[in-house]
Amino acid sequence: MMSHIPIIDVRARKVIDSRGNFTVEATVDLEYSTGVCAAPSGASTGATEMQAFAKGGPDESIKFFEKNVKNKIIGFNALDQNSLDTLLRELDGSEYLSNIGGNMATAISIANAKAVAQALDIPLYKYVGGMFSRSLPRPMGNVIGGGRHSKNGTTIQEFLVSTQGKTFLESAYINTRVHKRIGELLSDKLKGVSVGLGDEKAWTASISDMEAVDIIKEATKEISAEHKVKILLGTDFAATEFFKDGKYHYREGIKSRDEQIDFAAHFSKDLGFYFIEDPIEDTDFEGFAEVTKKVGKNSVIVGDDLYTTNPERLKKGIELGSTSGILIKVNQIGTLSSTVETVKMATEAGISRTVSHRSGETTDDFIAHLSVAFGAEFIKTGTIGGERLAKLNELIRIEEDFF
Ligand code: PGA
Ligand code: ZN
Repeated sequence: MMSHIPIIDVRARKVIDSRGNFTVEATVDLEYSTGVCAAPSGASTGATEMQAFAKGGPDESIKFFEKNVKNKIIGFNALDQNSLDTLLRELDGSEYLSNIGGNMATAISIANAKAVAQALDIPLYKYVGGMFSRSLPRPMGNVIGGGRHSKNGTTIQEFLVSTQGKTFLESAYINTRVHKRIGELLSDKLKGVSVGLGDEKAWTASISDMEAVDIIKEATKEISAEHKVKILLGTDFAATEFFKDGKYHYREGIKSRDEQIDFAAHFSKDLGFYFIEDPIEDTDFEGFAEVTKKVGKNSVIVGDDLYTTNPERLKKGIELGSTSGILIKVNQIGTLSSTVETVKMATEAGISRTVSHRSGETTDDFIAHLSVAFGAEFIKTGTIGGERLAKLNELIRIEEDFF
């Protein structure tokens, strides 16, 4: 068994993401293998997540890397992912990785893991998850959207579907059927209202949240009957984005904290939504706990902005019973090792994991592998669009290993 594989070289570059913005990519060379990783970027970012880039943007992150990080990493043992990730944090020296940027750290951290997996001749999911990574997630995809991801869309950021098909391929495909049907329903019903696609390729139209609920229900009912398969409904309120002066500001009106808690529970109990993400603003751990208690086992209440994949925040959430689920995004916390720490804590506490894309994505498919490695219940990565399908199609390939 190899115990030392030195990093021969590490390089960073700017590449372009799905929104047409710059992001960063890293290449890690080992003697006989190479790992490349491009980091995604969020729009509705959590207040406690790592700074995506150094102040001044991707160029400054790359400059910091060239000057302070590159030479310290060359020669380092690639097999010691934990120490490499700790070193990245130390070299950065700030709480929110604001010198190197969470995206640069993520790209280096994941590129290293990919290079090692290739050197060991095993897929990334097996390297990260070990020999017990034997379960596939279900695809969860955004079909109607608004919030920060489009102009004039719903107040609620995402309306999601997750087909519970026999295979990953079937589930991912039927999600696209729902997406297509919703496009048709929107143009049939809303003559004169312009319909477009948001950042994650979900439909966006100037409709109310309740109109979106009606349309998603109609479409899933039809497609579910047609294909004889169960389709779960989901939503990401991204509630912090419309929380101001102690109240929740919907386009149709304002809700108090108590009304918002009831509204979230209503999505579970009366509207039949299974997956409910960030229904409460991200400082109110107690409000989350009230929702989680009200819905019981009927739905999974998921913390994204609440936790920002941060083990300390998750610890607090577990103590207070804030949620029954967590969203996992590596660049919120900046390294693979910290992500694994959070995932382990969640798994031990019986918290459901959903590995997620960001609204500004690249064609990198590493989250497909992580979703398997982490035993995730879902992978949230859209339904259509090349940068989303890169992940879904990789899971279709991974599924072949499981037969
Ligand atoms: P982001 O949002 O990638 O724009 O931060 C996605 C989400 O809130 O789940
Ligand atoms: Zn979210």
